[in-house]
Amino acid sequence: SGMRLWGGRFADGPSEALERLSASVHFDWRLAPYDIAGSRAHAAALHRAGLLTDEELSAMLAGLGRLLTDVEAGTFVGTVADEDVHTALERGLLERVGPELGGKLRAGRSRNDQVATLFRMYLRDHARVIGGLLADLGEALTELAAAHPDAAMPGRTHLQHAQPVLLSHHLLAHVHALGRDAERLRQWDARTAVSPYGSGALAGSTLGLDPRAVAAELGFEHGSSANSIDGTASRDFVAEFAFITAMVGVDLSRIAEEIILWNTKEFSFVTLHDAFSTGSSIMPQKKNPDIAELARGKSGRLIGNLTGLLATLKALPLAYNRDLQEDKEPVFDSCDQLEVLLPAFTGMIATLTVHTDRMAELAPAGFSLATDIAEWLVRRGVPFRVAHEVAGACVQVCEKEGIELDQLTDEQFAAISPHLTPEVREVLTVAGSLASRSGRGGTAPAAVAEQLTEVRAELAEQ
Ligand code: ARG
Repeated sequence: SGMRLWGGRFADGPSEALERLSASVHFDWRLAPYDIAGSRAHAAALHRAGLLTDEELSAMLAGLGRLLTDVEAGTFVGTVADEDVHTALERGLLERVGPELGGKLRAGRSRNDQVATLFRMYLRDHARVIGGLLADLGEALTELAAAHPDAAMPGRTHLQHAQPVLLSHHLLAHVHALGRDAERLRQWDARTAVSPYGSGALAGSTLGLDPRAVAAELGFEHGSSANSIDGTASRDFVAEFAFITAMVGVDLSRIAEEIILWNTKEFSFVTLHDAFSTGSSIMPQKKNPDIAELARGKSGRLIGNLTGLLATLKALPLAYNRDLQEDKEPVFDSCDQLEVLLPAFTGMIATLTVHTDRMAELAPAGFSLATDIAEWLVRRGVPFRVAHEVAGACVQVCEKEGIELDQLTDEQFAAISPHLTPEVREVLTVAGSLASRSGRGGTAPAAVAEQLTEVRAELAEQ
């Protein structure tokens, strides 16, 4: 068995079954560079408190530097017998600087404040990576929107034809959702910029160390924990990160579902690039939207990571409990999944061919201009309740005759209502319908052009 950090009061070593249960090194090893950065800052704090001489500090830092080199080269690795990354790296340090000096580093810190700090550092780095990938996807969607400024499509509610919208308006709706996810990550990052180092096991340290100096050295802009119990026991920063990544998954799944539908023969709205679609092992004709399907599938996994973590945290008494070792795998997985998914998803969007003729052809279908008739009547002084009835009667006639609204004759209009003069035809075109929704946030080409400018400015700021 390895070099445990807690042998003193034990006559017997741990059973093999316990060791195998207890080990986390196979998943927390990715914290190793952060652990070493924490150790460097902690060594400096011990030195400032007079607990390490100048010579001891430089020997310690040199040893930690060699350890980092070996970790990065893969020539030093933790083993199951080490239990966790912190124990493994202490062994590595002792091997490099000797037990006398190496044994001094652990003073005034605990794995409890260490792991809480390193976990924050790791997730903050990955929040930036994921934020960058989200911006890439936002840009791809925005450029797709910009490439088709006038393309109309059927806007839907309940998946039924509702009112015509611009394709660009629809695509930008997704960009806004993703932009809020990126903003959530930035706000989370600022909230997480507080270092628990110095909290010790739970109650702080007797050694006169300065946690704020450690925080500054480790890049925590908002100082150190105000409460050592909170510093070591709180994991809401993990849960919130898991929520944001789950929300990203959910937002991706909504785009994905549309791509999957649009890519069917029945819709024929889009064609996927060969490099971003897959074939079938048996059906030679197949070209499948696997990236979108994996996005849809992984969103379930990301939600599971969040709910599993919340269940782990529920009713956990203060302060540290070993249950908390279960906090890492779910969010490490959330990072890993998004970091492979987002580049593929962005590639799929950036290479998508949109069949705007097909979309435009279907834009007025399903009586999607019925609201325009009603609102045209309202502009002529007809109460909306009546206008709604009249437009509904138009739809009823069309359904019976098997025609669209713009195919109704002047006589048919007049028979439905005396308010329906031939001028109603002004609004019975997709272009007219779109152009009339010109208020802020509406789907008129001019309004969407303004929106596009705003979105591009926001993306440029990130
Ligand atoms: N591997 C542990 C974790 O990830 C580190 C803290 C262990 N502390 C303890 N007292 N057993 O949570």
